[in-house]
Amino acid sequence: MTSAEEVISDIRYNREPAAAELEWFAQGLAAGYVSDSQAGAFAMAVCLRGLSPAGRTALSLAMRDSGRIFRWDRFDAPVIDKHSTGGVGDCVTLVLVPAIAACGGLVPKISGRGLGHTGGTLDKLEAISGLETQVSEDQLGEILNESGCAIVGTTADIAPADKRLYAVRDVTATVQSIDLIAASILSKKLAVSPQALVFDVKVGSGAFMKTFQEAQALAQAMTDIANSDGLGCAASALITEMNQPLTPAVGNAVEVKEVIEVLTGTHQNQDLIKVVTALGGEVMANSGLSSGTQDGEARILAAIQDGRAAEKFERMVSAMGGPPNFLEDGIRTLPAAKITQEVRAPSSGYISHVNGELLGKAVVDLGGGRRVEGDTIDPSVGLSKIIRRGEKVDRGWPIALIHAGGEEKAAEAERTVQAAFEILQEPPSAPRLICDRVG
Ligand code: URA
Repeated sequence: MTSAEEVISDIRYNREPAAAELEWFAQGLAAGYVSDSQAGAFAMAVCLRGLSPAGRTALSLAMRDSGRIFRWDRFDAPVIDKHSTGGVGDCVTLVLVPAIAACGGLVPKISGRGLGHTGGTLDKLEAISGLETQVSEDQLGEILNESGCAIVGTTADIAPADKRLYAVRDVTATVQSIDLIAASILSKKLAVSPQALVFDVKVGSGAFMKTFQEAQALAQAMTDIANSDGLGCAASALITEMNQPLTPAVGNAVEVKEVIEVLTGTHQNQDLIKVVTALGGEVMANSGLSSGTQDGEARILAAIQDGRAAEKFERMVSAMGGPPNFLEDGIRTLPAAKITQEVRAPSSGYISHVNGELLGKAVVDLGGGRRVEGDTIDPSVGLSKIIRRGEKVDRGWPIALIHAGGEEKAAEAERTVQAAFEILQEPPSAPRLICDRVG
């Protein structure tokens, strides 16, 4: 008979618990027979001693199995998902998900909310009037039937063991562990039974992983788990740069506007398209919908350029309660901030560094993000027209536009935004958007 003390002690003394013991522990987290102090000690033991690849997989599956697992047998399409470790001005999901659906995949995506300086896809979608992200299983099925894709919130019964462990990790300095992060993410991803997955592991000042080594380790851990024998899932990861925001907009309504413009072709956003097509190429190849990554990239790009991705996006928005002709008059219906204010370059030269984390913090301070879970957010505020790294400016040129609820907030944001830009006399080297591939 297993006990929580035994599981914790085994990890502490480098004797990895068997899969059945981790399963017992995860069930105990979900059912409540493992206490918060035991969960905290478990998390700390894993942080300090680590888990083997097999141990990580066992913990992921144990946490997945503590809740419900979705099956999509009634749909005749490969089930595809993507995961991003979170960034700033990163609206990849809102473009890639409908593009995959347009290419024949079924994408039942469970997304998260923003916390700290990073944005959350659900918050962005909820900037659309009437759109509801908390849906029942029947509604989720209807949205998928209608558009082939859905981006919805999690429910209490998806990986409840992870929810409990994550809450304890948050207050015991045990969030930063590759083993725990990978198991936590995979416990939720695998609950939708994907046949193909791609991970977008962001690296840089605006990302959760600040160094390339950390990003690589997380990418390896996640792809190893997802590719485990018997899961029927093929996965790979790209490590993508997240120093400056991926798009010139950071916030909720402002990012949705960016997405509409990209999907309708009214605005070219080369960096966003590059990351979307690279990730799409990976997951198309992983799912067998394309003959390889190059073919997959070409199919995703074609779906964006010929409007099929836009059509899927519009159908999804409407099926989720948003306006029916969102792409036609959506921008008009998005919430607009009370005031806008330009930020001007303090000197002349080249933009040599853009600090994504600071820009993300400026948006949180404006009220567009959360400091703690449960904070309400103002979808109308944010930043747009953010100048890109490498651009040449003269003193006094606009480098960003603040969307704020009032003058005081705008003045505060202006100081933070100014501090996020470094201007030098020499042009910087071009950043590598896609830094590595794992899988
Ligand atoms: N995201 C998760 O879902 N879990 C973690 O542990 C970290 C980030």
